[in-house]
Amino acid sequence: MSLAAVRAGSAAAPPTATPETVLVLDFGSQYSQLIARRIRELRVYCELVPGNLPAAEVAARAPRGLVLSGGPASVYDPGAIHPDPGIYELGLPILGICYGMQLLAHDLGGRVSPAGRREYGPAAMVVDRGDGLFSGLPSELPVWMSHGDVIDELPPGYEAVAHTANSPVAAMAGPMGRFGIQFHPEVAHTPQGSEMLRNFLYGSCGCRGDWAPEGFVQRAVAEIRRQVGEERVICALSGGVDSAVAATLVHRAVGDQLTCVFVDNGLLRRGEADRVIDVLTRNMRMRIERVEAQERFLAALAGVVDPEEKRRVVGREFISAFDEETGRLGGATFLAQGTLYPDVIESTAPDTFAAHKIKTHHNVGGLPAGMRLRLVEPLRYLFKDEVRQVGQSLGLPDDLIHRQPFPGPGLAIRVIGEVTRERLETVRNADWVVIDEMKRSGLYGKVWQSFAILTPVSSVGVMGDFRTYANVVAVRIVTSEDGMTADWARVPYDVLADISRRIVNEVPSVNRVVYDISSKPPSTIEWE
Ligand code: XMP
Repeated sequence: MSLAAVRAGSAAAPPTATPETVLVLDFGSQYSQLIARRIRELRVYCELVPGNLPAAEVAARAPRGLVLSGGPASVYDPGAIHPDPGIYELGLPILGICYGMQLLAHDLGGRVSPAGRREYGPAAMVVDRGDGLFSGLPSELPVWMSHGDVIDELPPGYEAVAHTANSPVAAMAGPMGRFGIQFHPEVAHTPQGSEMLRNFLYGSCGCRGDWAPEGFVQRAVAEIRRQVGEERVICALSGGVDSAVAATLVHRAVGDQLTCVFVDNGLLRRGEADRVIDVLTRNMRMRIERVEAQERFLAALAGVVDPEEKRRVVGREFISAFDEETGRLGGATFLAQGTLYPDVIESTAPDTFAAHKIKTHHNVGGLPAGMRLRLVEPLRYLFKDEVRQVGQSLGLPDDLIHRQPFPGPGLAIRVIGEVTRERLETVRNADWVVIDEMKRSGLYGKVWQSFAILTPVSSVGVMGDFRTYANVVAVRIVTSEDGMTADWARVPYDVLADISRRIVNEVPSVNRVVYDISSKPPSTIEWE
């Protein structure tokens, strides 16, 4: 669990000179984050807040408009979450999506009832009034429906502006730039969804689109300077993009008041530690202390086979190694972390909203609150793709910015069974072949992750005239939008053939390669 999670509920307002903001009131839809991302892609700053945030707090954030998300409930469920009725008195434009539309209809005096059957999936929608949300769009639109209730009676002042074969009110429009839609504009299955959101943001809310990475860098640098003053900051680098971007931002703000600590745990991909340290010290001129901790991690992992136990061991060792080093360095009062907005959302959302945790995710930055360091988290309002844009505008090289995600416990959870030096070396070399071939074929950037797993299975093979009995390596290549769901990538057979041939030829003690064809769910991306 990251420190952000320990400090749940502490999310303050975003960095100084807030850009124009739209709030998404979250009622628990699996798509809530996606709505926020789509809005930001349209260059409007957007935050996800609990659906029942008091109206005074909503008003205090001075939003240009509100989006009421979908949710699993029906407006009549006893446990259903309703917004503070005061939000309707703020005079703001509102877009209610799915459950959000039913809330709007119910709360403003209309009538909602259970549909005879759930409508789920693609539908052809006919637009009956082509202004507002549908301005500039064709009169027939493919949309993605997912709802149980329907609107029987519109609230006063509202009219139906689109219908489908099953929904007489697929969309409704009312005064003050308020709309309700029964479908999901944020998913790819509603191809013109972004244009509808754009119409809402720029047409109804009057936004101009002032959210961009360049502007963010200036604001963040000013905010870090204000927060840190003359004090010293330490930052744990993990080798990944988030901590590198966070460190670069802090460094831009306070220069040599920052010292980075890189704990080399021996569980990283080939060449990773050297590459990050090289870029940040040579190009960015940062101070980095490298802690050689490979032996210590190996010793702590000896005999550990349980995946969750591996995570705990890696987390614990990291904290001790980092603690010792910062104790040695002394004098820092701030800790910079690359916490991202999805972590913040997850840690502040009520339990019922948070997606069920399948694995204890260990992030290298996840340090205990007991460290008594104050936090600098310049990326806590950004999504991953925005972090990449910020990294780019800070001048970090492409290969570092567009690196695929890598789990905090590293290769320890890609060696199934006991982690030994030899088995780590085997999986690292196989992994390197996978990455190399994916890059060579131009597919590396097109998938979410591509990597090797060392299975605990040995199989019989024949090499030259000899019988072998050696390791089986699995290759996992997946596509995904955010790691929450994933599908195995339909990589051309020729690429798989090259990967397999090279692993068997170049990695000692491997004689067989298999390709993982499971999606998530029911599998997960990592094997452990
Ligand atoms: P799973 O295996 O849960 O992975 O489908 C989803 C995404 O999360 C990454 N992952 C982790 N990241 N610490 C991390 O920082 C972890 O313990 C961890 N476990 C999985 C995984 O690589 C994938 O991108």
